[in-house]
Amino acid sequence: MTPSAAGFVAIEAGRIAQVGAAVPSGLQAAHEIDGEGALLTPGLIDCHTHLVYAGNRAREFELRLQGASYEEIARAGGGIRSTVRLTREADEPSLEAASAQRLRELMRHGVTTVEIKSGYGLSLDAELKCLRVARRLAERHAVDVRTTLLAAHALPPEFEGRADAYIDEIAGRILPEAARLGLADAVDAFCDTIGFTPAQTRRVFEAAHALGLPVKLHAEQLSNQHGAALAAEFGALSADHLEHVDEAGVAAMARAGTVAVLLPGAYYFLRDATPPPIALLRRHGVPMALATDCNPGTSPTTHLPLMLNMACTLFRMTAAEALLGVTRHAARALGLQASRGTIEAGKQADLCLWAVDHPAELAYAIGASPLRRRFHHGREQLP
Ligand code: NIG
Ligand code: FE
Repeated sequence: MTPSAAGFVAIEAGRIAQVGAAVPSGLQAAHEIDGEGALLTPGLIDCHTHLVYAGNRAREFELRLQGASYEEIARAGGGIRSTVRLTREADEPSLEAASAQRLRELMRHGVTTVEIKSGYGLSLDAELKCLRVARRLAERHAVDVRTTLLAAHALPPEFEGRADAYIDEIAGRILPEAARLGLADAVDAFCDTIGFTPAQTRRVFEAAHALGLPVKLHAEQLSNQHGAALAAEFGALSADHLEHVDEAGVAAMARAGTVAVLLPGAYYFLRDATPPPIALLRRHGVPMALATDCNPGTSPTTHLPLMLNMACTLFRMTAAEALLGVTRHAARALGLQASRGTIEAGKQADLCLWAVDHPAELAYAIGASPLRRRFHHGREQLP
């Protein structure tokens, strides 16, 4: 990725009106901003987060340090279920306050669009509560939010031993109600040994499609369930994690135009040893996005630029691929490629100025935050 040495961007009514090397002589601007040599990028897009939750899982982190595995903790009733307990108990204002703090951190790192999943409610009321909080966060902050219903994240305790009945509840009640209220922009599921089977995932996807909602999938994170191919069959926007995906899954994603969302924070925090097959994804031309996966169990971070560094060091992605992963390809992972992700006329004027000379510096620094200025819909908005 070669940055252009100089250039201008004209913004009108929150959209990019013109982009070029030199300001045309006839252009009349009501207001001019000098970039002062800073690097201009599209606003960053965090296309996979579980931002709305209560509490934290520092205690489980300590258990894992003593040798317990993520799966063992989950099977013993901890893991996602422990966050579900706290999230169900939390009233809406305190859930919103805790989530808003994380959202502002994301914004301070240049995020202008964020995807937020439910998935710590796991009942009709609690899932709707989480999605309402996500929508309210968007109303109260200078950031765009896309919501994803992830009721099929884990089996709630009241459905113990009755996973298929919980899938009935999702397909027959939770999903239609979330759709009716306009609270879900997409539907996701966790297809894995500690999540749901491919057959159960298929039923969730069928219900989503019947309601006209696009799907995404937590696929091949801990084992190969052939979830990527299943997601591709449903024309999924993205298949996410993918550490254990095989070539057939990658090829199916390529054919369907499904984006690979890679989550180096979770890989790092779980000390996974199998990185996603980057060479295979490249060979098949599958677009690779990067996201924080911000959640209390596997990726307690709001630092999207740090994910660029991790993707390069841990997955051997190039710095240019990493930046595309949080801009162009992240937009596509949300179905927002027509309006976001690149600096082009007609797109939303979501832009960041960074105190760096070259884009590679964004991936090179460990934990820095060189964001200088941030524009959302053409307005300067620093959280
Ligand atoms: O993306 N894998 C499933 N879901 C989350 C983790 C959720 C949790 O542990 O609370 C993830 O890694
Ligand atoms: Fe996730």
